[in-house]
Amino acid sequence: MDEYDGATDVGDVDPAVLAARLDDGDPLSSVADRYHVPGDVLYMDGNSLGPASDAALASLDRVIEEWRELLIGGWTDADPPWFTMGERLGDALAPLVGADPEEVVVGNSITVNIHTLVGTFLDELLAGNGPEREGLPAADGTWVGDGTQAADGDPETDPAVLVNELDFPSDHYAIRAQLRQRGIDPDEKLRVVPSRDGRTIDPRDIEAALDAHDDIGIVWMPTALYRSGQLFDVARITEAAHEAGAYAGFDAAHSVGTVPHEFGEADVDFAVWCTYKYLNAGPGSIGALYVAERHHGLTPALAGWWGHEKDTQFEMNMEYTPADSAGAWQIGTPPLFAAAPLEGSIELLREAGIDRLRAKSLALTDFLIALVDERLPEVSVGTPREHAARGGHVALEHPDAERLSAALTDRGVVVDFRPPNVVRVCPAAPYTSFADVLEVVDEIAAILDSGAHEQYATSGGGVT
Ligand SMILES: Cc1ncc(COP(=O)(O)O)c(C=O)c1O
Repeated sequence: MDEYDGATDVGDVDPAVLAARLDDGDPLSSVADRYHVPGDVLYMDGNSLGPASDAALASLDRVIEEWRELLIGGWTDADPPWFTMGERLGDALAPLVGADPEEVVVGNSITVNIHTLVGTFLDELLAGNGPEREGLPAADGTWVGDGTQAADGDPETDPAVLVNELDFPSDHYAIRAQLRQRGIDPDEKLRVVPSRDGRTIDPRDIEAALDAHDDIGIVWMPTALYRSGQLFDVARITEAAHEAGAYAGFDAAHSVGTVPHEFGEADVDFAVWCTYKYLNAGPGSIGALYVAERHHGLTPALAGWWGHEKDTQFEMNMEYTPADSAGAWQIGTPPLFAAAPLEGSIELLREAGIDRLRAKSLALTDFLIALVDERLPEVSVGTPREHAARGGHVALEHPDAERLSAALTDRGVVVDFRPPNVVRVCPAAPYTSFADVLEVVDEIAAILDSGAHEQYATSGGGVT
């Protein structure tokens, strides 16, 4: 992991020479050719939507061809059969998050998976159960009923969910809805850890919230913040949650595929992520989830036939028997064309190796940060500088971030704007060179020096 140690220090070296040297020594340079990024584009938005690769398109084409040739027979006769696509892709993803194969499945979307998983674990808490751990088999039980008790709307006894102020909004919408559906007032029980600086969450504030409130039943945190890119210590948060008698769940959208995880070793209870960002499976591609083996067998809050025990799914019993794996949290028929590209794209990432990808990603963001420090005094870096607290992108802060982002995009530098003042720049390791990073900084410098961004209007909306 430290093959790049010190290699990106700009110092007295000409950055172009440094970039060329780093690119020459890049063990992943051949991987880049397998992604489709138009020659006139500097693509720095893989944290929103990863590009197509030959491998992803090939696995998608194969499934399209199977549909053409096999029709309904594809569910059983395709090679491999479509019927177990969710489980199979889960197996392939498991090493990227440090899980056993049966702990990961693909299905639904992030938001749907938050609904079903947070709902499931709220139901467990309301039934008087909690995270099982040595010497303390259940949560401390302020909300323990007789196993049949529904929430009584009593703020003393209802479980709370701990989130943070900088979360992706959809997470809060879904969790609030799940609380409401159980008669729990989200204004009381969605406990929000504040940010001290508007960019990051201090993990000590998560621990302080757990100390201050004994009703927290679920700690729900991102592995990395979507705006600043702050990366969290998943093991530390999980340990704090468990010590407080709470489950630990994570939104890992901004790290899976660029940061290696060890969910099993960290004892994480459950997690969700998407496959359209760093996993490069295409727009709206299928979601993924992790449920620790010790929770298999629970009845998902959003049950559906695709989560039924596989061997008897087609017996069409009215009685629902959940699969004894994370597969139980699938709901309905998986969208095959939104899942198929993932097969090829994971293969490509596994070929590259997640540790090599992480090492290169850190070197790319180190180089970017060093260049910004050196050449862009009016831009601040909103992403933590310590490697352990940095995900795959860098948040560049500028008062005119929206117009800067528009000017960059017009010049073929695809970044995105996140209100109020952030341009996110993601030099994704599989397909970005150090020369690309230098070019991005050159473009920003040219725009700011000339004031070219000032001709753009601010929009206040739209997909960026
Ligand atoms: C961190 C995070 N959480 C949740 C979501 C919502 O995901 P989905 O639209 O797939 O449900 C996103 C989408 O970009 C995200 O970045």
